[in-house]
Amino acid sequence: MTSTSPQAAPWWRQAVVYQVYPRSFADADGDGLGDLRGVTSRVPHLAELGVDAVWLSPFYPSALSDGGYDVDDHRDVDPRLGTLADFDEMTEALHAAGIRVVVDIVPNHTSDRHPWFREALASPRGSAARGRYVFRDGRDGPAGPMSEPPSSWKSLFGGSAWEPVGDGQWYLHAFAKEQPDLEWSDREVREDFLTTLRFWADRGVDGFRVDVAHGLVRDVDSNLHVELPSTHTALFDDGSHPLWDRDDLMEVYREWRQLFDTYDPPRAAVAEASVHPSRRWRYSDPSSLGQAFTFDLFEAGWDAAQLRRGVELGLEQLDVGASCTWTLANHDCVRAASRYGLPPDPELSSHVAAKAWVTRDGAAPVLDRALGLRRARAGLMLELALPGSTYLYQGEELGLHEVADLPAPVLQDPIAFRSEGAEKGRDGCRVPLPWTPDGSSFGFGPDGGRDPHLPQPAWFAGAAVSVQEADPGSTLHLHRAALERRRGLLGPEELAWEEGPDGVLHWSRPAGRGGRWHCVVNVGGADGSGASVPLPAGELVLTSGPLDDAGHLPPSTTAWVVSG
Ligand code: NOJ
Repeated sequence: MTSTSPQAAPWWRQAVVYQVYPRSFADADGDGLGDLRGVTSRVPHLAELGVDAVWLSPFYPSALSDGGYDVDDHRDVDPRLGTLADFDEMTEALHAAGIRVVVDIVPNHTSDRHPWFREALASPRGSAARGRYVFRDGRDGPAGPMSEPPSSWKSLFGGSAWEPVGDGQWYLHAFAKEQPDLEWSDREVREDFLTTLRFWADRGVDGFRVDVAHGLVRDVDSNLHVELPSTHTALFDDGSHPLWDRDDLMEVYREWRQLFDTYDPPRAAVAEASVHPSRRWRYSDPSSLGQAFTFDLFEAGWDAAQLRRGVELGLEQLDVGASCTWTLANHDCVRAASRYGLPPDPELSSHVAAKAWVTRDGAAPVLDRALGLRRARAGLMLELALPGSTYLYQGEELGLHEVADLPAPVLQDPIAFRSEGAEKGRDGCRVPLPWTPDGSSFGFGPDGGRDPHLPQPAWFAGAAVSVQEADPGSTLHLHRAALERRRGLLGPEELAWEEGPDGVLHWSRPAGRGGRWHCVVNVGGADGSGASVPLPAGELVLTSGPLDDAGHLPPSTTAWVVSG
C-alpha cells in the first residue's frame, strides 16, 4: 500500500466533496426549481459544514428528461437555473469561502434537443451529422419506418436501447430516448468536449465529475447479433463488453489529462465508472482522470463482512497510487438512512432491495427509521475515517430519509416511465431540501413562491436545517464535528486492520498530529441488536451516538479514538 502525506498531496486526494443537486438545493427566485443563486445564498451553510469542495450535478440547458443529464448545451446555464454571470458569482463566493468547485461533464450522450442531434435528424443516413451519433439501419436493412431495431439491446432505464427516426434508421441510447449516445471516434465530438472542459476550467472550475465515464466508446457493428441481457452488464474484467469500458476509451482521458495538466493547479477529475473493480485503476491512474468512484461500500448492506469487503475493494486504489473514494449516497440511490433501516433481504443486495421497497411506495417491509438513521450516522464516521475522499450528497447532513411515497403523477424520473412499473425511480432522494420548519416550501424557496418541483413531506419540518442548528445532538452537528475533527486528524493515506470481535470493524491509521487514529464501527446484528464493545485506550475524539453506561460502544455506532 502506498502512502502520500496530506501536505504534499493535491487537494482532492483526501477531500470532502458535497454534491449539490441544483434543482433541489435552494430556490432563490421562487419558481419551484432550485437555482445557482440559491447555491450562492447557502454558501454559509456549506462553509460551516466544512466541506472542501462542491460538486454540482448538471445545471446546463435541458428539458430535464433525465434531471439535467440530458444536456442541450454544455457551455451554458439553464435559464431557469440562472445565467453564466450567476455561475461566476457562485464560484467566486464558494472560492472566497475556501470551497472548490467541481462540475458534472456528460460526454456519453447529449439531449435530443442539442443542435447536433437536430441536425442529425434533418440529415440523411451516412451524413457527417448522423456520424456524431450512433445511427444504424434497422435489422432488415433500410426497410422503412416499421423495421426492427438493429439489435435486442436494452436501455439502462428500460425498453429498447434503439429509437427509430422514421426513415429506417435507429439511434442508440443507453439511457432515455432523449439522450442519444455520441460517437467518440468522431474527431469533432472529441474537440468539442475539449472546448467544453477549457470553457469551465477557464472560468475557475477546479475539477470535473465525468458522467458514465466507462461509456463513450463502443464496438457496435461486430456485436449487433450479441444478446446482451441489459446494457448494464458492465462488470467484465477483460474489456470485451461491446458497450462499456473499452480499451480505446483510455486515449480520450489521456487527452483530457494533458489538457487538465496545462492548468495550475492541474484540474481534478473523478470518473463515474461502473466497471469491474480490477479495472478501476485505468480511470483513476494519474495519466487518466486521477480518481474514480467506488460503489462497493455503498452497495454493501449494513453487515460487517459486506462493509469490510467494500472497504477492501475501495482500498485497492491505493495499490495503484490513486486515492480512494467513498460514498454512501448520491442522487441515483435510495437514501442511506432508509436503506439501512430496512430488514435485509437475502435474495437482493441492500441497494436493489431498497429500490424495490420504494417501488412499493415504501410499504412492507417496514422501515425502522431510528435504526436507519443511527446506522447512517455511524456510516458517515466510517467513511470519513478511511484514507481518500468522501463524497456526501445534499441532505445527508440532515439525516434525511427517502421520500418513498411520492405519488405516480408527480414522478419525473425516466426510469419510472421506461421500466413499466418495475422500478419507481430516483425522485425520492431528489426532493427539495428543508431549510426551515415552516414556510410554503420549508425555506427551499421564498415563502409564497411556487410549489417545489417535487412535493415535500410534512416530516421534513422536523429535519430542517434551522431545527437541527438548535439541537446539539442533531445529525447536522455530527457532520460539522466529524468534518472538523477529521481535518485535524488527517495523515498519510494508509490503514491497518486491528483485531476486533465479530460484527465489529476496527482499523487505525497514522494521525497527522501524531499517534494513531482508530476507527471502531460496532456494526451489530441485522436487527440492530448486539453487545456493546470496549474502545481502545486513548483520547475519545467523537462518537456517532451515545456510549453505554459502562463507556462501551453500542451496536450501530462508530467511535474515533486517538492512541498515543
Ligand atoms: C449517471 C447519473 O448519475 C445519472 O443520474 C444519469 O441518469 C445517468 N448517468 C445518465 O446520464
